[in-house]
Amino acid sequence: MLLNKIFYIIIKKNIKLYLKKMPNYGDPKYWEDRYKDQKGSFDWLEDYNSLKPTIQKLNLSKENSRILNLGCGNSPFCENMYDDGFHNIDNIDISNNVIQIMKNRNIKRPEMTFKVMDVRNLQFENSSVDLAVDKSTIDALLCGDYAFLNVAKMLKEVIRVLKGIFIFFFIFFFFSWWLLYGYFIW
Ligand SMILES: C[S@@+](CC[C@H](N)C(=O)[O-])C[C@H]1O[C@@H](n2cnc3c(N)ncnc32)[C@H](O)[C@@H]1O
Repeated sequence: MLLNKIFYIIIKKNIKLYLKKMPNYGDPKYWEDRYKDQKGSFDWLEDYNSLKPTIQKLNLSKENSRILNLGCGNSPFCENMYDDGFHNIDNIDISNNVIQIMKNRNIKRPEMTFKVMDVRNLQFENSSVDLAVDKSTIDALLCGDYAFLNVAKMLKEVIRVLKGIFIFFFIFFFFSWWLLYGYFIW
């Protein structure tokens, strides 16, 4: 019992220290400022090539599938996916700066869209998306205030916009210890 309590205290202290040291990824202003200064591109966790074998297993039609990229950032993921033949990609992000950067960067990929949008309030119709991709955007929400409420709001929206049989591909760091990675198919 005493050992359990000691472990509990150590883990709790470490989580607190860790969260204190981290930038405020849960705050939209953090991202707006970051993208004002950050040039180039950055792929969080994994790149398209490493996830491609898993995406291939989903057997999606490259011509007809509508893909929603949640919190695209300045990652080349959508560009690599587009160049691989998936042209119908809607990219959204809460940061206006990054959406402008991505729009300019992708003038030569005209079928792909970039919109400022909150993942907790998706401006898409019900059952209109074949595949939703989340690469580390849940991580960002988990770092902010009301973390679980925000993740629940996002998931509710994702479920709403996905088609009957739907696929939600996610990859995130769970408290930065485990890289959770997988997909749901309903
Ligand atoms: C960790 S980065 C991941 C970026 C990109 N998906 C990647 O894999 O490199 C999280 C992204 O989520 C965006 N974001 C944070 N909160 C958001 C929200 N509520 N709605 C939409 N995007 C959000 C941030 O602006 C940032 O670009």
